[in-house]
Amino acid sequence: MLAQSLWAPESASTISDRVDALYWFLNGLTLFFTVLIAFLVIYFAVKYRRRSPLEVPKPVEGSLRLETLWAAIPLAIVMFIFVWGASLFYDMRRPPDDAQEIYVVAKQWMWKLQHPGGQREINELHVPLGRPVKLIMTSEDVIHSFFVPAFRVKQDVLPGRVTTLWFEATRPGRFHLFCAEYCGTGHSQMIGWVVVLPPAEYEDWLRSRAEGSLALEGRKLFTKLRCISCHNNEQPRAPSLEAVFNKQVLLDTGRTVPADESYLRESILEPRAKVVAGYQPIMPTYKGQVNPEEMFQLIEFIKTLRLGETPPRVEETAPPIEETAKPQAEGKKREESK
Ligand code: CUA
Repeated sequence: MLAQSLWAPESASTISDRVDALYWFLNGLTLFFTVLIAFLVIYFAVKYRRRSPLEVPKPVEGSLRLETLWAAIPLAIVMFIFVWGASLFYDMRRPPDDAQEIYVVAKQWMWKLQHPGGQREINELHVPLGRPVKLIMTSEDVIHSFFVPAFRVKQDVLPGRVTTLWFEATRPGRFHLFCAEYCGTGHSQMIGWVVVLPPAEYEDWLRSRAEGSLALEGRKLFTKLRCISCHNNEQPRAPSLEAVFNKQVLLDTGRTVPADESYLRESILEPRAKVVAGYQPIMPTYKGQVNPEEMFQLIEFIKTLRLGETPPRVEETAPPIEETAKPQAEGKKREESK
């Protein structure tokens, strides 16, 4: 729509076209009556002008028909607008049940956004294309307002209260995010971007940015430390770790032990202490390569690893037995890469 590109921000959500339609209808209606009334004022002023100083107009007694009409027509028009606006309002206010939830904390003067997987962002919000997103919002200090013009959504963000907002993006891209409530000297800098990604790219983004979630950090480590080259489903050289947590594990000594946190920890630091029956003791130690925090991340990853969720092997790597010869060099590399 030409008028849209000239007068309105681009339209990028499922409701933005509907909001625009109502907006342009109201503008059109206003313009129509403005022109009509202005024309009639001038037309009647000319037509019924006083033609001589002695002219006395006929008295008007009133007209029931006319009065009914000028009450009924505007009533019909405003009721039509009311029903239209109310149905749009309901759809805007009620998030679908399957909406993805994202937490928003506003403070002077930034937007802090958190995904359920622990991914955190500031002044930038990544969302999937074509999926409803529900924002659960609150403020740390004063009243702010979350406003994305391209989605035609705006909602105040209040201290001590939780407000929600939902949208479904229909186009990939970057869209402006504003604070639309004056909140202090930095108000004008309280801006950012909503980045809409196709679902697959969004999943990749979530994975790459999963900082707060121990399990996802552990997953990254699992690939980075190349645990994946043996603990995989394609060419396993080591036991699968799927759904192993707290299960009984049969060792090559014939003993069984529970795969609890301490067993997992021991197996990472001293892999040859308790070797699972049926496997070669080829795993190198990761002592010195994982710090306690990373250890917890790996354990959390294994804890939450369900059947079929082992990440795919991304690349061929040398069997880890060769790495035992150069643990120092490997450790150094890891330091440098930080
Ligand atoms: Cu926050 Cu204006």
